[in-house]
Amino acid sequence: MKSGKLRGRFKGDLAEEMKGFTSSIEIDKGMILEDIWGGEAHVIMLAEQGIVEGADARKILGALERAKSDSIKGKFELDPELEDVHMNVENYVMKYAGEELGGKMHTARSRNDQVLTDTRLHLREKILEIEESIIKLQRTFLKLAEKSTEKIMPGYTHTQHAQPISLGFWATAYVSMLTRDLTRLKNAYVQVNKNPMGACALSGTSFPIDRELTTKLLGFDGIEEHSLDVVSSRDFIIEVLSALSILMSNLSRLSEELILFSTKEFGLIELSDEFSAGSSIMPQKKNPDVAELVRGITGLVYGSLIQILVTLKALPLGYNRDLQEDRTLLWNSLERVNSSLLILNGAINKARFNENRMAELVSENFSTATELANFLVSEKEIPFRKSHEITGKVVKELVKEKRNFRDIEYTRDILKRHNIDIPPKELRDILDPKKAIERNKSLGGTSPRAVKGMMERFKRGIDEREKDIKKRKSDIESARKLTERMVGKT
Ligand code: ARG
Repeated sequence: MKSGKLRGRFKGDLAEEMKGFTSSIEIDKGMILEDIWGGEAHVIMLAEQGIVEGADARKILGALERAKSDSIKGKFELDPELEDVHMNVENYVMKYAGEELGGKMHTARSRNDQVLTDTRLHLREKILEIEESIIKLQRTFLKLAEKSTEKIMPGYTHTQHAQPISLGFWATAYVSMLTRDLTRLKNAYVQVNKNPMGACALSGTSFPIDRELTTKLLGFDGIEEHSLDVVSSRDFIIEVLSALSILMSNLSRLSEELILFSTKEFGLIELSDEFSAGSSIMPQKKNPDVAELVRGITGLVYGSLIQILVTLKALPLGYNRDLQEDRTLLWNSLERVNSSLLILNGAINKARFNENRMAELVSENFSTATELANFLVSEKEIPFRKSHEITGKVVKELVKEKRNFRDIEYTRDILKRHNIDIPPKELRDILDPKKAIERNKSLGGTSPRAVKGMMERFKRGIDEREKDIKKRKSDIESARKLTERMVGKT
């Protein structure tokens, strides 16, 4: 029987149908390099601590280096007979350094801490990738905002026209929203980037290991110290999937707006041809499939979060094989979230925002009524509740006559009937949507000045975050180089 099949205490091999069922080869495929890196750090540490002799360690490391280059060339095939990536890498070392040395590599280590090491190493890079994609989308929104702080559109509540806003204000709302997603992912990264190695199976080890050294070699920011807790826990995955779920909720809301705004009824946005899909029967169709798919993928990511939550809810401490199911949906979610971000970025970049339609709608449906009510308060000393009532009556009469605020004279006459006399020019200014957005100068408001202020601050914030991502990436790179140097020196 092949070594590495862990059948020492059993009579014979696993049942045929057990092999595929227990294997995690499929979900381990993306973690081969991580498993090798973890292995190298471990062996370097064993040698440094005198647990494995230098000469032996060198041979094991030689085989691991070979495994690494095979894997980079796509020549490291995972053998499904060997259950998982860990047994595959160990088996590879046995093949090239001999069974005895290969067998030494697993001293003071367990697959229970190994699988966590690989997962955390892989996950941290994926988080960084997603953070970068979020920033790309934020920059696209900022570019749109740059040219549209004065372009008016209706702002909605209850999906009904509420007050005028600028397109730049709309675009920066998403920049603001995504900023919190970046924070959540960064917080999740902090939990992910801790070293589980050395926890071994569950209780630590009698060998004099050095967990600080493996932490340094793998570029972790600290040690996840408690051995029993660390092998049992997957809450770092819950945190990542929570952050991803909230991110997808945000992307799904954006998608919903893209879908609505690109209907004939709204007509505010037109997606470019490259980001639209056709119908197999209706030749005229131009469908926003891109946004619908993102909305659909949101369900998949929520499902992944629920899956891991349910998996963990009744698990006693210690490794349980249920935990092997932690990665299938996780990897899939990470990939789908990232492609959602990139595709939305492309779609927004190429979309056409229909400024004429926006301006037309914003003047048609009393979106400046609050402005009139405010004016009655500040200039006519009418209490707001009363001014609200009067303005409501004005709207009621205009609606009855099938008119709107563009009919200044007509509006003036109604106001006069309520003993309010506003000169035409002044009334026109009050009811002008463009002037209305200019007046909303409060911090965080829709005025061009307020929006430009926010844009400045968002840009500075994004620059800071980019620096931080770069720093985390270069920390990972330095650790990789340190391991390489130590491989050479051992
Ligand atoms: N393939 C396993 C997983 O993905 C690795 C850990 C196996 N540990 C064990 N005690 N069977 O979770």
